[in-house]
Amino acid sequence: MPKKISLTRYLVEQQRMEGHIPPELRLLLEVVARACKRISQAVSKGALGDVMGSAESENVQGEMQKKLDIIANEVLIEANEWGGHLAAMASEEMEGIYVVPNRYPQGEYLLMFDPLDGSSNIDVNVSIGTIFSVLVKPEGAGVSEQDFLQAGSKQVAAGYCVYGPQTTLVLTVGDGVTVFTLDREQGSFILTEEDLRVPDDTKEFAINMSNQRHWAAPVTRYIDECMQGRDGPRGKDFNMRWVGSMVADVHRILTRGGIFMYPWDKREPDKAGKLRLLYEANPMSWLIEQAGGASTNGQQRIMDITPTKLHERVSVFMGSKNEVERVTRYHSEA
Ligand code: AHG
Ligand code: MN
Ligand code: MN
Repeated sequence: MPKKISLTRYLVEQQRMEGHIPPELRLLLEVVARACKRISQAVSKGALGDVMGSAESENVQGEMQKKLDIIANEVLIEANEWGGHLAAMASEEMEGIYVVPNRYPQGEYLLMFDPLDGSSNIDVNVSIGTIFSVLVKPEGAGVSEQDFLQAGSKQVAAGYCVYGPQTTLVLTVGDGVTVFTLDREQGSFILTEEDLRVPDDTKEFAINMSNQRHWAAPVTRYIDECMQGRDGPRGKDFNMRWVGSMVADVHRILTRGGIFMYPWDKREPDKAGKLRLLYEANPMSWLIEQAGGASTNGQQRIMDITPTKLHERVSVFMGSKNEVERVTRYHSEA
């Protein structure tokens, strides 16, 4: 029988390999995974726990918070604040950064997260998740919001956990993408796939079609051509999927290919997009790139963008390389 490799063992072995992860980063990733297990438990309680519905509060982005948005945020903070591996955290659900309290030792890492991605799917029992990203705090005393404003290319770890039919943790530390599945009997994440690859080509796209009338011309052109199927310039029929949870849509794309788009649109022209650069776009971009895919905002590689504020938003095109390159080219031709 093949040996089961736990996340703990995988991380210890990564640490042993020269040039891979330092012990503090290993601890950090273990703690994040532990927090995800707790969130997974809360999610699975559904109506039997006090986890469904609205919290009747708004976050800094002006979005209504669900109870689970707040629970997941608290679980991640409580799990991570005392270990000595972090200097500070930033979250989609908190206005400012959360500096590790004085009573605990401070580490050199910065953790960013979307504690609960796909909030609109919680109450309807559809896959949701947690997305996270890790940076190293720049040298110097103290820690400030400015320290978080680093390009995605500076990430040292990124991943997500999807709470679906299975609870799956997907991780990169810059050496490919590794998948772990939660073994509920054992209570541990077990390695189930290594070196995930996104196919270069695809016949499947993911976009919220109800926003079509608000799109910019290059996006309309790209989708129009897909929709014409085998009779159009693409010469093949396309399929569409839109879960409404980025984690679930990106997980499908990492598994079988596809392109995920959340473009800028005319509804709120002053916003670059809906999705957040630090908590959603950067970690997902790195995972996609590590799996051989591509990720741009239509103009440039997302991971090359230097953020100017914590809750910066961005237009997103990510997934199978040839499709991302095509829609990016349509932007430059427009
Ligand atoms: P969140 O629940 O963290 O606010 O993120 C929701 C995001 C993303 O997960 C998803 O792809 C997108 O919003 C869905 O947007 P629409 O409701 O416009 O389809
Ligand atoms: Mn989200
Ligand atoms: Mn969220």
